[in-house]
Amino acid sequence: MIRSLRGMNDILSEDYERFTYFLQTASRIAQHYGHHYIETPLLEETALFKRSVGESSDIVGKEMYQFTDKGGNDVCLRPEGTAGVVRAFIQNKLDRKGGIHRFFYHGPMFRYERPQKGRLREFHQFGVESFGVSSVYEDAAMIMMVSDILNELGIGYRLQLNSLGCQECMPPYRKKLISFLQAAEEHICEDCIRRKSTNPIRVLDCKNGSCQEKYIDAPKLIDHLCENCAADFATLQKILKDNDIEFEIDTHLVRGLDYYSKTAFEFVSDNIGSQSAIAGGGRYDRLVEFLDGRATPAVGFAIGIERLLELIKMPEAGLEGYYMGAMDKEAIPTIIKTAQSKRHSDRVVVEYEPKGLKAHLKNADRIKARYCVVVGENELKENTLWVKDLQEKKELVIPADEFQEI
Ligand code: HAM
Repeated sequence: MIRSLRGMNDILSEDYERFTYFLQTASRIAQHYGHHYIETPLLEETALFKRSVGESSDIVGKEMYQFTDKGGNDVCLRPEGTAGVVRAFIQNKLDRKGGIHRFFYHGPMFRYERPQKGRLREFHQFGVESFGVSSVYEDAAMIMMVSDILNELGIGYRLQLNSLGCQECMPPYRKKLISFLQAAEEHICEDCIRRKSTNPIRVLDCKNGSCQEKYIDAPKLIDHLCENCAADFATLQKILKDNDIEFEIDTHLVRGLDYYSKTAFEFVSDNIGSQSAIAGGGRYDRLVEFLDGRATPAVGFAIGIERLLELIKMPEAGLEGYYMGAMDKEAIPTIIKTAQSKRHSDRVVVEYEPKGLKAHLKNADRIKARYCVVVGENELKENTLWVKDLQEKKELVIPADEFQEI
């Protein structure tokens, strides 16, 4: 038997209901914040991710589904959504047009990671990106939007916040951190030694406990922010407090993608095991320029949909729509015609096999239909429909032409 690839799952039945409910809720909220849907390809040139997510990141260094296509192009399945949206933004000359452009998207992402609970090789993100706003109020709007989505779905969270500084304050901080790491070199892991020269701030979120002990005394970027970054970080905290959004400052939160500056944040859940990050994002003011566009401030986030599924509290599902069946073969065309007359406004499920009343009622119950409509010999003769309202528990026989009224 052919099975799906490791870390790649089917989404069926109950999970699918949660999945679509999540997408409807998140899309509605993103639209309320002024965002428009954007769809970008699953496959992009590998260079796009190398230049944005960064060559020193694990995502690009170890986890890409990368191959040469039949035309000899170096391509890969997208590991995340931001890079593609930025490419589309530049390719469609929106950077030259100026103004504010707000997008949201959802779809599969691919990372060749070691699969475990909450960590898949094909997973789905819901993402939001905003271009053209440098004000930290937009960073706050991003965080409030994630918070609104999680609250509406009944999901508890902890919000972790950090500032990664800008071009002015990051380089001198990096120098300080490198000298600290040089002094600690004998006590840190090989990954950290390598990162010291490729991307030193990434050492701060090393998962190795003994490295973490060493980094307790490492210099902290939030103590070295320039005036502008420090003021924005203070404003951000004030807006969040004013809007009753609790947060923790985590000075070791650096994110696994290289394009961030200033605000970085992660939403974590304590109820889903070790893969606890349910959403992450931040500001990436230099990325548009980095991908050859006109310098444009930008900020965004993405939510990992699979990690949320078991946490979503679904609203009580009521009975909905119609189930229709025939008791005799001759009644089937009538059932099909009657069903068609309702489908423009309601869910209608038709059973094509003639069955007894009891069997039809059982089916209607199973699919949670509000009405069970059945046509047998008598109804056919008299041009009527037998209808049971499964909510009010009432049975009635109505003339076929009155069906639109129920
Ligand atoms: P990220 O933190 O790499 O950020 O991913 C966002 C979310 O995707 C994570 O918090 C997690 O819930 C989910 N996720 C990541 N990897 C996996 C996996 N292997 N299996 C299941 N879920 C996973 C980004 O991707 C950025 N593009 C976010 C962003 C948008 N920043 C600015 N704009």
